[in-house]
Amino acid sequence: MPIDPKLQRTIMGRFATGVTVVTMKAGDTLWGMTANAVTSLSLDPPLVLVCVDKTTQTHGFLNEAGAFAMNILAENQEEISNRFATPGPKEFSDLDYQDGETGSPVLGGTLGYVDCRLSEVIAGGDHDIFIGEIVNGEDRGEDGGRPLLYFGGYARLG
Ligand SMILES: Cc1cc2nc3c(=O)[nH]c(=O)nc-3n(C[C@H](O)[C@H](O)[C@H](O)COP(=O)(O)O)c2cc1C
Repeated sequence: MPIDPKLQRTIMGRFATGVTVVTMKAGDTLWGMTANAVTSLSLDPPLVLVCVDKTTQTHGFLNEAGAFAMNILAENQEEISNRFATPGPKEFSDLDYQDGETGSPVLGGTLGYVDCRLSEVIAGGDHDIFIGEIVNGEDRGEDGGRPLLYFGGYARLG
């Protein structure tokens, strides 16, 4: 018998993660989506992946943009996480951001980011797996910045 999706969500919610916002520029449209189904995939070549629900608008914008930045949120960026977890157009006008090498918006105040060109999209049930090759990145966590965590809900390091 297939597992109840709610149970799958609850079990996998026990797997604590950080929180990222995956941002992109498709034509003139700036877009982003909060994502924790992300991982570093390969060092040579340098690859990361993000799993994206096929019903989100982000899915189409990612394909159109052909690039994305993965921004790792700091513990004081819960509002940004909520903003990019709300379906529909995303407000960037009041955000601190810069254009990355790929044109993807790189958010300020994070613990770091990687800027990627889309390398491959692999089917994964009701999600697709977007693999990006890193072209640039920055570590901003050296001075002890603390991450926003997700563990069934938002959490912080104790
Ligand atoms: C902490 C957190 C993590 C999330 N991770 C993902 C994820 O990895 N993949 C995904 O498709 N949606 C994820 N979501 C849900 C999307 O952020 C949400 O569906 C968003 O509204 C999509 O926006 P859009 O439909 O305007 O593209 C997550 C939400 C939260 C709060």
